[in-house]
Amino acid sequence: MTSIITQRIALDFEFPVLFTRDVFDPANPALLEAVERAGPGPHRLAAVVDGGLAAADPGLGARFAAYCAAHADTFLLTAPPLVVAGGEGAKADFAVVEAVWKLIFEARLCRQSFLLVVGGGAVLDAAGFAAATAHRGVRLLRLPSTALAQNDAGVGVKNGVNAFGRKNYLGCFAPPYAVVNDHALLAALPERETRAGLAEAVKVALVRDAAFFARLRELAPRLAVLESDALEEANRRCALAHLEHIATGGDPFELGSARPLDFGHWAAHALEEATGGELRHGEAVAVGVALDTVYSGLVGRIGETEVGQVLALFSDLGLAVWHPALAGLDMEAAVDAFREHLGGRLHLSLLDGIGRRVEVHEVDFARMAAARERLAARTAAA
Ligand SMILES: NC(=O)c1ccc[n+]([C@@H]2O[C@H](COP(=O)([O-])OP(=O)(O)OC[C@H]3O[C@@H](n4cnc5c(N)ncnc54)[C@H](O)[C@@H]3O)[C@@H](O)[C@H]2O)c1
Ligand SMILES: [Zn+2]
Repeated sequence: MTSIITQRIALDFEFPVLFTRDVFDPANPALLEAVERAGPGPHRLAAVVDGGLAAADPGLGARFAAYCAAHADTFLLTAPPLVVAGGEGAKADFAVVEAVWKLIFEARLCRQSFLLVVGGGAVLDAAGFAAATAHRGVRLLRLPSTALAQNDAGVGVKNGVNAFGRKNYLGCFAPPYAVVNDHALLAALPERETRAGLAEAVKVALVRDAAFFARLRELAPRLAVLESDALEEANRRCALAHLEHIATGGDPFELGSARPLDFGHWAAHALEEATGGELRHGEAVAVGVALDTVYSGLVGRIGETEVGQVLALFSDLGLAVWHPALAGLDMEAAVDAFREHLGGRLHLSLLDGIGRRVEVHEVDFARMAAARERLAARTAAA
C-alpha cells in the first residue's frame, strides 16, 4: 500500500525596485525606503563593491562611509567594504563567492542582516549567489552599476557563476530584498559597456513590446551618442519590461522549459563561452538577437521590412551583429547546450512580428546557417 501526503507550500515574494540618482547622498532616502519593511534598525550591513566601479569612481568609498555614518540608526556597517575584481572573471570560479562568504562570516551577518552589492551583472551574480547560500540566505540589496545590470541582470531573481565552461552552470533563484537603480552610477561606465546594455532593451522590446521598439527607433540618434536622458528612459523601460515578465509571465523560477526573455541567448551564451568572456554579454546578445531575427524571417514568421528594421536599429545604436567567433560556432551543439540548461524539450523563442514571440521546438540548421551567412555578408558589405 502506498499513501501520499501532498504537501503544498505557497510563497509570495515582494521586492521594491527604486530609481534614483546619487544614492549615497545622505539626504537621499532611497536606501532607507528600500529597507523600510525590515522595521527599525540598526541593521547589520556589509558591502561588496565592483572593482571596475571603484577604480572609475574613487570617491565612492568615502561617500558610502559618510552615508552609513549619517544613517547609523538604520545601518550598522560591520566590516570595511570588500572590493572584488569585476567583469566575467568574477563568475569564472569560486574566488569571489568565497571572498563574499568570508565577508558575511567575519561581519557576522545573520539572515536578517543586509549584504549590499554595488556592481555589474557579473559581480551581482556571484555575490548574490554567496548571499543566497550563506546561512541559506541573507538579505541582498542590489545596486546595479552597469546599464545591463540596471535594465536586466540586477532586477531579476537569478544568481550564479560559470562552471565546466558553461555560463551560469551553478546558481540559484533567490529574489533580492530590494534593488536601487542609481542612474548617476553609470556616469563612469565605459562607452562600450553602456552601448552593450542597449542590446537587452532591443531584445525585450522585440519579444514583448512593439511600442517600446518604436520608441527605441525614435531614440536611436540620441542613444547612439549615449545621451544620458535617452539612456535613462531606455534602461528604465527595459527594467520594467523584465520586472513585468517575471511578475506576470507565470514562471518566475523557470520551472518549465520555456525562457521567453532568453531570445537570442543560445547563440549569445555560446559566443561568450567561445570568446572566454571577451565579448560582453550585451554584445553577444546583439549578435544572437540579430541571428534569430534573420532566422525568424527565413522561416516565414516575420517580413523582410521588420528584419531590416531590427538590423538597422542595431547598426544605428553602434552594436555589431557579427563576431568572428560566430563563423566557427557549432550551432547544433550550442542549441543543445541551451536546451540542456533550460531542461527538457527544446523551447526556442522566435519572432512572430515585432513585439510578439512564438515558441518553437526545432531548428532548421540549414536555414540557421543561411541566417549566419546573411549577417556575415551584411557586415562584409558595410
Ligand atoms: N542574473 C541574471 O538574471 C542576468 C541577466 C542578464 C545578464 N546576467 C549576467 O550579467 C553579466 C554581464 O553583466 P554586465 O553587462 O553588467 O557586465 P559586467 O558585470 O561584466 O561589468 C562590465 C565591466 O564594467 C565594470 N563596471 C561595473 N560598473 C561600473 C561603473 N559604474 N563604472 C565603470 N566600470 C564599471 C566592471 O568592473 C566590468 O569590468 C553576465 O555574466 C551575464 O551572464 C545575469
Ligand atoms: Zn541577457
